Amino acid sequence: MAKVSFFSGKQIPLEMHKVRIVQKLNLPPVEQRLQAMTEAGNNTFLLQNEDVFMDMLTDSGVNAMSDRQQSAMMVADDSYAGSATYTRLADKLQDIFGMDYFLPAHQGRACENILAQTFVKPGTIVPMNYHFTTTKAHIVLNGGTVEEIIADKGLQVTSSEPFKGDMDIAKLQGLVQQHGADKIAFVRMEAGTNLIGGQPISLQNLREIRQVCQQHGLLLVLDASLLADNLYFLKQREASCQPLSIREITRQLADQCDIIYFSARKLGCARGGGICIRDKALFEKMRGLVPLYEGFLTYGGMSVREMEALTVGLDETMDEDVISQGPQFIAYMVDELQKAGVPVITPAGGLGCHINVMEFLDHIPQQEYPAGAMAAALYIASGVRGMERGTMSEQRDPDGSEPMANMELLRLAMPRRVFTLSQVQYAIDRIVWLYQNRQLIGGLRFVEEPEILRFFYGRLAPIGDWQDKLVAKFREDFGDSL
Ligand code: F0G
Repeated sequence: MAKVSFFSGKQIPLEMHKVRIVQKLNLPPVEQRLQAMTEAGNNTFLLQNEDVFMDMLTDSGVNAMSDRQQSAMMVADDSYAGSATYTRLADKLQDIFGMDYFLPAHQGRACENILAQTFVKPGTIVPMNYHFTTTKAHIVLNGGTVEEIIADKGLQVTSSEPFKGDMDIAKLQGLVQQHGADKIAFVRMEAGTNLIGGQPISLQNLREIRQVCQQHGLLLVLDASLLADNLYFLKQREASCQPLSIREITRQLADQCDIIYFSARKLGCARGGGICIRDKALFEKMRGLVPLYEGFLTYGGMSVREMEALTVGLDETMDEDVISQGPQFIAYMVDELQKAGVPVITPAGGLGCHINVMEFLDHIPQQEYPAGAMAAALYIASGVRGMERGTMSEQRDPDGSEPMANMELLRLAMPRRVFTLSQVQYAIDRIVWLYQNRQLIGGLRFVEEPEILRFFYGRLAPIGDWQDKLVAKFREDFGDSL
């Protein structure tokens, strides 16, 4: 990785790329932001993007592409069968992960659908380091149960643990003993564990899981959607990986797994997804679902242009300069917020900066969705769109009761190579202002609550008139500033 020291001694992330295409942004005044938030039912998913200044909702499908990716799109082969585009992508995946079989799908959750339909039967369980929303939904839909067996360190909000995404091996063995190996559909590990703050897994942990799986004949499935960040952290933090190239680290990770699936909206900075499989029989077991749900085996619902961009994007993921930009910007944001006393998840992970709302808004009970309230408040204060990752993102239990999330987070994703450091500084500035005015923020309640994945399109209302008070205080402190 390019190492650049500043004469001033400051550690500032330095981009190893230049910007060649830009998009104009709009920052509406605070009164309009309140109106937009109200119209969106206090759900940042329902905001119109033209009202959003910095879109930190997600990095999904919104990472900046390289010039090489864009130019590769022009040579796509549209043919339905025998497409050269497919062969290029399948070869690249084979080269990177060393698995012989590949099934394309339109995005990550489509892979989860295929995996869950194939392996999850009623009464089976899927042990995993931590769930992702769509993963859990598919497993539950097929009659399975998710067992989250993340190591205790993963749920410590502030810590200096390098690999908070690791699984608790003793708990995995306990589950096998308790239920028997035949009740376990597969073991799932998620690289760059999304819902606990983009925290990485270690290669050592994956090796130990592999041993347990081998001992009991269990399948090990890796969700590699957030692999790029995880690779950066392995190179930085795991001693055995430091002498290895990113390509070698990737192969060592892959060597532990039977199946690797990914959202190409994240991994490879394009739009799509896929499942890489080591074993022919497993590949054949899943194959039939691709033409049924996704598209023919040569594209699986992806546009061939995106597939070409993905092939190049996967190759670029093997370049440490490329994958370090996100984690370095995130670390900068986390450090600056921490200096200002704002509670954030530490150590800084991948994906984005995560604000610990349980502490930021410790006066709001979990039943009133503090992380959702924080997302609404930050948009009103700044035009920055974040994502609730707390109780609102959970599903109700079948009896209608509401499980409280382990963490209440506001996720501020850092789409790769999209924002400049001054924009990140603007976001930090407004978060610090909000922290100093946090007592003004109140809770939310559902006014429309869909049964499945309610956080995507549910609508909420503020409890009380706290949002008007927040706007008034903004005007008092910022005068006529946007
Ligand atoms: N697995 C992980 C770890 C993810 O982060 C995602 C998506 C998926 C699977 C599903 O992939 O969106 O292509 O269907 N995460 C997005 C996010 C939605 O905003 O974090 P998908």
